[in-house]
Amino acid sequence: MDASRVRKNPAMAKVTTGAQPSERFEASTPGSHALWQRAVGSLPGGNSRTTIFHDPYPLYVAHGNGCRVTDVDGVERIDFISNYTSLILGHCHPRVVEAVQLQATRLMSSATANELEVEMAERLRERLPSVELVRFANSGTEATMLAIRAARAFTGRTTIATFAGGYHGSHDYAVSIPADTRARPGGMGVPSAVADTVVVAPFNDHDATLTVLEPRLDDLAAVVVEPVLGAGGVIPAEPEFLRFLRELTDASGSLLVFDEVIAFRVGYHGAQGRYDVTPDLTTLGKIIGGGLPVGAFGGRAEVMALFDPRRDPPLAHGGTFNGNPLSLAAGLATLAELTPATFTELEALTSELTSELATLFADSDIAACITQLGSLFNIHLTDGPVLSHADVVASDRPLMRELHLALLDHGILFTPRGMGCLSTPMTRAEVDAFADATRLALAERAP
Ligand SMILES: Cc1ncc(COP(=O)(O)O)c(C=O)c1O
Repeated sequence: MDASRVRKNPAMAKVTTGAQPSERFEASTPGSHALWQRAVGSLPGGNSRTTIFHDPYPLYVAHGNGCRVTDVDGVERIDFISNYTSLILGHCHPRVVEAVQLQATRLMSSATANELEVEMAERLRERLPSVELVRFANSGTEATMLAIRAARAFTGRTTIATFAGGYHGSHDYAVSIPADTRARPGGMGVPSAVADTVVVAPFNDHDATLTVLEPRLDDLAAVVVEPVLGAGGVIPAEPEFLRFLRELTDASGSLLVFDEVIAFRVGYHGAQGRYDVTPDLTTLGKIIGGGLPVGAFGGRAEVMALFDPRRDPPLAHGGTFNGNPLSLAAGLATLAELTPATFTELEALTSELTSELATLFADSDIAACITQLGSLFNIHLTDGPVLSHADVVASDRPLMRELHLALLDHGILFTPRGMGCLSTPMTRAEVDAFADATRLALAERAP
């Protein structure tokens, strides 16, 4: 083991060997602790983004550069989550910074159209042939909400089918998805009238999906699916499963919506290019904003034409910051860097990491199954295989959260649920650093 490759956290010197990961985290992040204590006075739980909270409190990061971030105590870590997969070029990529700076001096926003949205729409159509027309929004949440509205308006139907473990943002339909297909859709604050329009099927399970959907086929507006479950555990769809969904939606007169808010980063033509299945609508976000807020949805011209303001009435979709020049300038600069070769290289590097991790866990007493598609991966502490969200729920998630804190301590920014991704500034050195940190974390746990 080459422990020198792992950047040691200087604050750790004060912490007793053998301390629990959470104790070491608290001891080594005094600046984050102080900020969080201040934050709880003004923000519920000190938080505005449920998905980034973890016990005992989240890390506060002051700056990022390439694939590294520095926390408010001055400790640098390698960022293996990249703002939940959105910073595919890493932090503050020079071309993205240049594009944003230039655009900030030209036009930040205005109550007019702008050329950047025309250009971005053309770039997306080139990469995603299923997208004939596209519209921009400010988040993936808005993108999926509007794709659902478009599907309902186009079909005149109401029911939306989704999959357990799917994540589509934080609007009412999206948060209606329970983790377990036996639970009713819905959640705190979601009216039952809304939750009743959502049905949830098990991912990658042809027969069970048919059983769930069959009673609702006449009212089915859309099947909304991530071609690779992202937040649900980086679980790639089986190709036959997506083909089955395509056939089912065609036969029932409903629309197939691919949520590629995360999945678009798995290939030059997104996940749909890899699977060779053509959706009716696609939702996008994250990497197409180059690190700034963005959302987009697009697809078949006859569906998207509902939004044409020359219609009477059109399907309305306002938004003060839709197609805002700053996000699109950052996004265009990002896409310009992402050639087919970039995706191939990033995937190869990710495979090196996942196979190294698989070996490390196999040599330890902890069962693990590492899932991967493109530059996305997820460590699941279970024997596997991990084919659906039920398998994720059955894994040792408390231990994964412990491992997450240990990795933070050894210089790796990762997620408590085990999801990670690579970014283009990474090389074999960062892969080795992740492996070394994992090796140290596993060794510390050993009796
Ligand atoms: C697949 C998927 N869809 C939608 C969203 C929501 O995007 P946003 O966080 O930009 O609202 C996310 C966010 O992680 C996502 O992973």
